[in-house]
Amino acid sequence: MPSVVLIGAQWGDEGKGKVTDVLAEKADIVVRYQGGNNAGHTVVVGEEEFKLHLIPSGILYPDKTCIIGNGVVIDPAVLLEELEYLAARGINTNNLRISLRAHIIMPYHKKLDEVIEESKGDAKIGTTKRGIGPAYMDKAARVGIRFVDLLDRDEFSLLLDRNLKEKNNLLAKVYAADGFNKDTIMKEYMGYADLLRKYAADTSIIIYDALKAGKNVLFEGAQGTLLDLDHGTYPYVTSSHPIAGAACVGAGLGPTEITKVLGIIKAYTTRVGEGPFPTELLDETGLHLRDKGHEYGTTTGRPRRCGWFDAVIARYTVRVSGLTSMAVTKLDVLTGMDTLKICTGYRRGNEIIRDFPASLKTLAGCEPVYEEMPGWHDDITSAKAFADLPAAAQNYLNRLSELAGTPISIIGVGTRRTQTIIMDSLF
Ligand code: GDP
Ligand code: IMO
Ligand code: MG
Repeated sequence: MPSVVLIGAQWGDEGKGKVTDVLAEKADIVVRYQGGNNAGHTVVVGEEEFKLHLIPSGILYPDKTCIIGNGVVIDPAVLLEELEYLAARGINTNNLRISLRAHIIMPYHKKLDEVIEESKGDAKIGTTKRGIGPAYMDKAARVGIRFVDLLDRDEFSLLLDRNLKEKNNLLAKVYAADGFNKDTIMKEYMGYADLLRKYAADTSIIIYDALKAGKNVLFEGAQGTLLDLDHGTYPYVTSSHPIAGAACVGAGLGPTEITKVLGIIKAYTTRVGEGPFPTELLDETGLHLRDKGHEYGTTTGRPRRCGWFDAVIARYTVRVSGLTSMAVTKLDVLTGMDTLKICTGYRRGNEIIRDFPASLKTLAGCEPVYEEMPGWHDDITSAKAFADLPAAAQNYLNRLSELAGTPISIIGVGTRRTQTIIMDSLF
């Protein structure tokens, strides 16, 4: 019953979609367990590119069960759009199951995401404005609306009444913004309920039964460690838990069921949105990485900030998510650079910091300590095995693994499914 949790090891966009797609070949079930359509996971199969926001990347295989777990927040309009987008491209989505316990993103969540961000001025988080934070706020405040409630007209109406009373007041009095009309939302959301009802399930049972039957389950994380609500660069984080532990909570499963944890990590570092980023390159090299790596947000199209590989972050992720191995992606993007830098620690005054600090003030005062390694110039995009890589690329990877303290099981050398070196397929 191998079950593998796949997580983002940096600030998101590490290539989780691609690696999920590669590993899904051997999985029976693929599960999303946190986040929502703030995620943007890209999968390239042949000449075709798919961008997924809510549906697990396993959906591209016709025979896999794909689950949206209880820990995900669902915007039903976006989910239906995604279902249509896949159907239009000939992808069968009948094997999708949605947890009855997942929370629903409402129109007022999206509005609140906007006005809260605006009201913060310079202190804004740079959210995706998809209503993610406000939806998780309501979940924690115990006033959220779940998928099971959406499917029950009377319950939905009651919860909507209560919520609108509070949200319209908040929008008008605190943010001087327009409120929402109940009838309009009822009509819209009851339409969504009709269309989504057939996917509803108690998904924890499906996963549990599959594991007991010896099937392979892959958990597809969204975002990344440093966007984790507890372990990330708070408050510049998302409102869910991208670390591996959240797979248990967000799928309804005990920790004893998890056998492996794979951290997806770029061969360099990127971040989209505000907040500290010690190895950020604000020079030509940063622009080169953005350009060569096509570093623009999958969800919002915003340019991603780019910098060198940060081994402090890698070690941190290994610890807080218990990585058993990592997948290093986008190695090909580094081809052609004479020298590569790896951050091994942070210098703050006379002190060298080796563990990722809690305080953003401390982090802001940190200078990365770099070691340099020679780069390579040979094209690596058709490499099929570790031995096919130039010696300098092998040395670079070996050093990343040594500094992170975990082995590398997968290497990405291009966007396509086939441009992947698999040393250990995990299942
Ligand atoms: P995710 O959010 O972690 O799934 O990552 P995104 O899909 O948002 O961003 C990763 C981007 O890098 C996508 O455009 C992928 O197609 C691309 N990508 C993934 N792995 C590789 C790789 O090994 N090499 C290259 N060149 N691109 C990759
Ligand atoms: P994937 O799964 C990169 C960032 C936003 C912002 C912060 C909070 O594709 O890796 P939110 O809308 O979640 O309240 O925004 O988190 N963010 C991501 N950055 N990849 C993602 O997902 C992200 N999801 C959210 O840019 O800084
Ligand atoms: Mg992404």
